[in-house]
Amino acid sequence: MDQTRIAELFAADAQRAREMSCEDVGFYLDYSKQRVSVETLELLRNLARQQQLETWRERLFNGEHVNNTENRAALHMALRAPRAADFRDAGRRVGPEVHAVLDRMAEFCERVRSGQWRGATGKRITDVVNIGIGGSDLGPRLVCEALAASIDGPRPHFVANVDGADLHAILARLRPETTMFVVVSKTFTTQETLVNALHARAWIVSSLDIEAVSKHFVAVSTNQEAVEAFGIDADHMFSFWDWVGGRYSLWSAVGLSIMLALGPQRFTGLLRGAHAMDTHFRRAPLQQNLPVLLGLLAIWNHNFLGCATQVLAPYAQRLSLFVSWAQQLEMESNGKSVTREGRRVDYATTPALWGNVGTNAQHAYFQMLHQGPAVHPVDFILPVYAEHPYKDMHKKLVANCLAQASALMRGKSAQEVRAELVARGLEGEALEAAVPHRVFPGNRPSNMLLMPRVDPFHLGALLALYEHRTFVMSVIWGINAFDQWGVEFGKQLANRILDPKSDLPLDPSTDELMHKLQLRMR
Ligand code: F6P
Repeated sequence: MDQTRIAELFAADAQRAREMSCEDVGFYLDYSKQRVSVETLELLRNLARQQQLETWRERLFNGEHVNNTENRAALHMALRAPRAADFRDAGRRVGPEVHAVLDRMAEFCERVRSGQWRGATGKRITDVVNIGIGGSDLGPRLVCEALAASIDGPRPHFVANVDGADLHAILARLRPETTMFVVVSKTFTTQETLVNALHARAWIVSSLDIEAVSKHFVAVSTNQEAVEAFGIDADHMFSFWDWVGGRYSLWSAVGLSIMLALGPQRFTGLLRGAHAMDTHFRRAPLQQNLPVLLGLLAIWNHNFLGCATQVLAPYAQRLSLFVSWAQQLEMESNGKSVTREGRRVDYATTPALWGNVGTNAQHAYFQMLHQGPAVHPVDFILPVYAEHPYKDMHKKLVANCLAQASALMRGKSAQEVRAELVARGLEGEALEAAVPHRVFPGNRPSNMLLMPRVDPFHLGALLALYEHRTFVMSVIWGINAFDQWGVEFGKQLANRILDPKSDLPLDPSTDELMHKLQLRMR
């Protein structure tokens, strides 16, 4: 296939565009512009069977401890399943607890949204600040941004960075009397979150008083002890469970700021969409299974065709935070070099994932995608209906999206370029000098994923689709997608650098930098 041109595959099979597509849950995936034949797809499915994808999928859904290094299940699907669903952790049904928390969240959100819950001075809560980082930030932030047009509750804000500029900029716009903080941390030990929460608390206490904390702070965590030690009452805490990975957690109480802003009904819509995608992933045969197809095609491009990175290009301003969310999802899950059993892999695992919304990205790095020497496959994501009144603009957005995918695949030969330039009157040396700069190599693969619109249901389904794609890839690579030991070491060293009494040696470069910083910071 390395020598095969996608355009020739189209020429040889008039049905290719129709046949290499898959449709369910309102999504339509066209993967005919991938550098694959029918045989390639068959071989990829064989690879999936050899790696026991179907068995691993069942293990995942059955609550087996697929996160073997932490001896935990990864049951995020249970968070979005209907009440009657039968998901179990260690034999125990988790549904009742999940729905008890969802009910509590809904009741709390209704009180805040209706103005029944008021701040310490009796004023309504108009602004909610989500303090959290990584999985305790990116999902809720993305959803609130994507559905911003429907926000009918308190305005959501997000603080994540340990750079105090983040908190400072947001507090400068808010008033303590009308602000609520939702401190979100699975572990409740994360440095960034705790230090931001401490400063936020000081801000409340200094302009109101210590009693006000209970009216202006709630927590979301699995660690009740640490929440209470911080000074937030257990009554004002919403729980989740160790079988929910941080980057898979927006469906749990981690989504509290989403529910506050958008209301329980839209939050339920999000869960329903994700559940529909779970059902599709679990039931659809491999050849008609959206997450399986996306996962296998990504493996094909990365491991077989040698593409080092993968581009995501949502043609939807509302999905402007999708790439940041997907980066944590994919690279924290699959950025590993050992198998589940701890054996070193001798193949590439996750490709670097990057991108931005179209058409903005076209005016930044698409030049490289078209004419750079390396091939970077693209997932185009395109909502069919616009959620704004400017229909003419939506037509242009759609045209641009389709045109980019087509141009990447077709390319433009020297012969075509020459003919165009001759028609414009160029000749001789000037013609020959101009040609190479205008040639497009083409044969660059992409997926086109159409979704009806960016509404709660289809947004939920889209996020679940990429969650399962990540899982599929991890199974092919034989790795555990649900731990993240790689982020621990840096955290330890940061603590070491902060501790003046520690005599643990650092490296000479860091020692020297610390010395320079100390001199300059005086
Ligand atoms: O740094 C990695 C990480 O552990 C992520 O996996 C997680 O989403 C994030 O930090 C935040 O963790 P927590 O919710 O425990 O504060």
